Amino acid sequence: VRDGNGVKGLVDSGISKVPDQYIQPQQERIDNQNGISHELPPIDLSKLDGPNHDQVVEEIANAAEKLGFFQVVNHGVPVELLESLKDVAHKFFAQPPEKKAIYCKDVSPSPNVKYGTSFAPEKERALEWKDYISMTYTNDADALNHWPKECKEVALEFLNKSIKMVRKLVEILLGKLGVTVEDSRIDAFIGLKMVNMNFYPACPNPELTVGVGRHSDMGTLTVLLQDGIGGLYVKVEEDIDAGKKGEWIEISPIPGALVINVGDTLQILSNGRYKSAEHRVRTTSTQSRVSIPIFTIPKPTEKIGPLPQVVEIDGVARYREFVLQEYMNNFFGKAHEGKKSLDFA
Ligand code: SIN
Ligand code: FE2
Repeated sequence: VRDGNGVKGLVDSGISKVPDQYIQPQQERIDNQNGISHELPPIDLSKLDGPNHDQVVEEIANAAEKLGFFQVVNHGVPVELLESLKDVAHKFFAQPPEKKAIYCKDVSPSPNVKYGTSFAPEKERALEWKDYISMTYTNDADALNHWPKECKEVALEFLNKSIKMVRKLVEILLGKLGVTVEDSRIDAFIGLKMVNMNFYPACPNPELTVGVGRHSDMGTLTVLLQDGIGGLYVKVEEDIDAGKKGEWIEISPIPGALVINVGDTLQILSNGRYKSAEHRVRTTSTQSRVSIPIFTIPKPTEKIGPLPQVVEIDGVARYREFVLQEYMNNFFGKAHEGKKSLDFA
């Protein structure tokens, strides 16, 4: 990636087989997944304002407890904005390598912007079939000054509009645990925000590669926009459906919807009630896929552990307390490998 070529550059050079360093060990490959799909009706967030408020709250909490993933519609983020996001993501990655390379780690003009490929290339046994640009939010002015001009306005609007929904969801989920958090505390749980744009080029050997290896997210909640191609799989931890436990089910794209998932931090805060589910992404041979996640994470200086109100009810703290920065170091210091970092807590 030094020259900004990434996986995209590899594909553009005309390869007909993936290079060895992208070939996953047998057990990590994702084949024969096409048959396993699971109808998950999206949750209509506009109903939070009507007579069915309590029922919607129930649906949200239930999804967070069981699968750790759900999709939402009428979420307050304009659908045209979602379309623009996918367009600008394609435009960004379609640029010549030298336009992207300026954001590579070590040379990027801002510590808040980073272009790269795979998750932790120096640590991985096999590389992931993915290029990305990561944009950390500090304030609007910084975003407009430093994020790539091809996508900054759209990405910033996505972040600002989505954060409102995230605050609401965190409030609901903590409320269900009997935690009435004043706004300031919720802000502490989502104090660090990041927008990524992921690009998964069409791959000559989808049966040998992964777009993203199995992992759980480290933060509080993730909001994900995926395009219509599909390929995001979640591991069923709780028996949501007879016989599905341990299986990988696809989070099928729904036009206009956003995917929400619980991260490790929320699993820890809730003392294990909400599930930070393992997930992974398969590659496809025919089309390039884009996805645009927003990660909400506590500030690195924040002390995190099971919330006292929940521990009191449960009678036991299932995780220890730690400073978030330590958790981050652990998470980013290792290759994707399931719920690798939760042992740390
Ligand atoms: C990820 O979880 O890292 C990416 C999810 C996606 O691309 O759908
Ligand atoms: Fe993820």
